[in-house]
Formats: sequence, C-alpha cells, structure tokens
Amino acid sequence: MKKGIFITLEGIDGCGKTTQAKLLKKFFEEKGFKVVLTREPGGSSIGPEVRNILLNKNMNPVSEFLLFASDRKEHIKGLIKPALERGEVVISDRFCDSSVAYQGYGRGVSLDFINYVHNFILEGLLPDITLLFDVSPEVGLKRIHVSDRIEGEGAEFLKKVRNGYLEIAKREKRFAIINGEKSKDKVYKDMVSEILGRGLIYGG
Ligand code: TMP
Repeated sequence: MKKGIFITLEGIDGCGKTTQAKLLKKFFEEKGFKVVLTREPGGSSIGPEVRNILLNKNMNPVSEFLLFASDRKEHIKGLIKPALERGEVVISDRFCDSSVAYQGYGRGVSLDFINYVHNFILEGLLPDITLLFDVSPEVGLKRIHVSDRIEGEGAEFLKKVRNGYLEIAKREKRFAIINGEKSKDKVYKDMVSEILGRGLIYGG
C-alpha cells in the first residue's frame, strides 16, 4: 500500500523542470523526508539502454510509445512503488503524461490505445500532484541546446505537445500549471506553494 508522496514534473523541452526537480528534492530533504529523484526515460534498470535507443533511433510512433511504456513499467515496479511503500517522497522528472502529450497529442498515437496500455502499466498508481511547467515552444527552444532526436523536432511539434499538456491539465485535478517563463526563484516559489496548498505534506 502506498504511504509516500508521488510527485511528477512535466512540460515541453526547455521548460525548466529538471532544475526545479533538484530544488524540490532539497526542499523535502530539509524537511526531513527521504527523497528519490528519478526520471523517464532512464530511471529503471533497463532505463539507460532504453533511453539511448529512444533518443537516438528513428522509429514508428507506436513503437516509440511502447518502448517508453516498457521503461515505465520497470520504473514503477523496480523503483517507484517500493520507495512509496517505504513512505518516501518520489519525484519523477516525466511520467505517464509525457507519453500522452508527446506520442499522443504530438505524434498522433491513439489516446485510447495509450490509456489502455497505461491502465495495465500503472495499476492505479497516479501522482499525488503533477507540476506542469508551462512555457511557449519559442522560450523552450531558446533554452535548450538540442541534444537528441525528440528535442530536435522544432516549434510546430512542441506546440502540439504543449497544447496536449494543457488539455490533460483541464481534465486531471492532480495537475498544477506553473508559469515556467518566470524567473527560476519565482517558479520555485510557485511550485512550493502548490505543494503546500494541496496539503500533501501535512496529510491534509
Ligand atoms: P528529457 O529531456 O526531459 O529527459 O526527456 C527526453 C525526451 O523524451 C523529451 O524530448 C521528451 C521525450 N519523452 C517522450 O516523448 N515520451 C515519454 O513518454 C517520455 C517519458 C519522454
């Protein structure tokens, strides 16, 4: 049974979530929590190899999704669930919503298919809060030094992904949208106030 706190960070490339994930880890550690900071793709035992394939090889969008999904299943089973059962805080830089936004809204893989597969993979596990760092594709692209195939897709693709995230956020109460175009300090403050506002720490 889950006892810990599960937090995911999402957004288009260059949204600043990786920097904020590190700050969030520190925030929880200073409060005495044990924290696991992880990411997708890459956080599972097969993760580094899967990440390497996903970010460097061209493939059909359905295969791409299934590969992300395999990494996700191993990530949940091998790392996320055990840590939550120990009562720890798990912060994941990307999780299931990345597939819905990138492979679903971005590349046109059937959302019904993605949800169907996720039903098997997640087994009811959803984040307590998903922080969406919202930035325009122009701002995101300016911040990244394009280093992989998916990051290299350009503004039109990222626009679809961003809109996808905003659609998911409309449906899912666990989403908190944070304006990622503000300064790093302001984004941090907004993130912390979302965490505190939802009563995640004091069990409210
Ligand atoms: P990162 O740069 O945030 O580590 O993410 C790597 C890339 O993988 C990023 O461009 C988003 C992409 N991605 C998907 O397309 N689908 C997914 O399910 C995940 C987890 C990541």
